[in-house]
Amino acid sequence: MKHISRTQIADLLIREDFGAEVNVKGWVRTRRGNKQVNFVALNDGSTINNVQIVIDLAQFDEETLKPITTGACISVNGRLVESMGQGQRAEIHADELQVYGTADPGAYPLQKKGHSLEFLREIAHLRPRTNTFGAIFRMRHHLSYAIHKYFNDRGFYYFHTPIITASDAEGAGSMFEVSTLNLDQLPYGADGKVDFSQDFFGRPTNLTVSGQLEGELGAMSLGAIYTFGPTFRAENSNTPRHLAEFWMIEPEVAFNDITDNMNLAEDFLKYLIRYALDHCKEDIEFLNNMYDKELIERLNFVLENNFVRLTYTEGIEILEKSGQKFEYPVHWGTDLQSEHERYLVEKHFKCPVILTDYPREIKSFYMKQNDDGKTVRAMDVLFPKIGEIIGGSEREDDYEKLMTRVKETGMHTDPIWWYLETRKFGTAPHAGFGLGFERLMLFVTGMANIRDVIPFPRTPKNADF
Ligand code: 4AD
Repeated sequence: MKHISRTQIADLLIREDFGAEVNVKGWVRTRRGNKQVNFVALNDGSTINNVQIVIDLAQFDEETLKPITTGACISVNGRLVESMGQGQRAEIHADELQVYGTADPGAYPLQKKGHSLEFLREIAHLRPRTNTFGAIFRMRHHLSYAIHKYFNDRGFYYFHTPIITASDAEGAGSMFEVSTLNLDQLPYGADGKVDFSQDFFGRPTNLTVSGQLEGELGAMSLGAIYTFGPTFRAENSNTPRHLAEFWMIEPEVAFNDITDNMNLAEDFLKYLIRYALDHCKEDIEFLNNMYDKELIERLNFVLENNFVRLTYTEGIEILEKSGQKFEYPVHWGTDLQSEHERYLVEKHFKCPVILTDYPREIKSFYMKQNDDGKTVRAMDVLFPKIGEIIGGSEREDDYEKLMTRVKETGMHTDPIWWYLETRKFGTAPHAGFGLGFERLMLFVTGMANIRDVIPFPRTPKNADF
């Protein structure tokens, strides 16, 4: 085949230099036609749109054409021609065809008919080739880029925090242990406990649940930082909103208080939603039409309205007076369940909500304590259809108060001695939050299950692919 530089289909479809010789490579979505001419819809992942390849059967022998079936990968040399068909400007009239890889029609699972999302999860190695997952994973990319752009343009530094740690950042204990010890022959000490001094790091370690503690060190030196990386929770939560491995974005800013933190969270979320609408138009329109007819409307609604801000105590009063029957009864001191959060957002305020000042007993040890002795300066951002999308707080910057909380919660100080030292050396007010990237992805794609917005989901009893 003659060498012609490859053009991505996204670029090709907006070209107008009709008559030009072009090359495209991609995967066959469909092939149809009659005895004279065939039409192949080709997709290369660069856009949700296919390019139509027009094949004059008289120009090719049957052996070349036979393997061009749904799923096969081909390379096409041809001429760019203005299309007569509806909905596309350009098509390619094929001069030369090469098949890179065949896809046996009897075995290739992605034939033309629509498949259920559940079935597609079982073939996660192939689902990026569908319109739905192509759209979602392109959007994941664009939003990842937007996150870096947002912070870079505002003087934040991308701070790399460790994946393997010896500390429990949330103090919640749901961690995956990391060890090179032989599970069949564990070494035990005189006290009958596993002797971790013989382990790789010489101590117990785990996968991080959050980069926040190290992120705070970054903020207390570089001023404003953010992390963006995978985090791991060994909670046995089989819900449409929980993953065992998810990506989190955690900004942390020196001198910010809780109001600055709320302003940053609201501005950041609106920026990302605006970015998605501006840069992922075709993919969002597809998802809107296929899965969630109110998606674009909902995204615009969030952009156009201020988030409602109220305290946890005020939120509880609304829930108690609502007359609503909740599966989990609600009263002051209880942690809010998704059903309570969604009642406030979807039924009561019909608007995103930021709840602040939670009881300290249900929040992490590092949150700044209020003068009332009961609540902490926590903030959760609650979104329609999602519930909690962001969790954050102003941090306790007073050494004595922090130590009191650490002791009350029964945490070991040994693995976090370095964290505690920041409160001894030039401590300062500071605040930050964590945005669950897949929760954001659920919101901007309109998908209902978090397993469908990450390429290879990790959930209890599922680590395939
Ligand atoms: O509320 P979380 O646990 O907060 C923290 O980890 C803090 N260290 C953040 C900070 O202040 N820097 O988690 C933050 C967010 C949640 O609001 C949610 O969006 C997401 O992370 N999240 C999960 N997403 C998917 N699956 C899970 N199992 C998640 N757990 C939390």
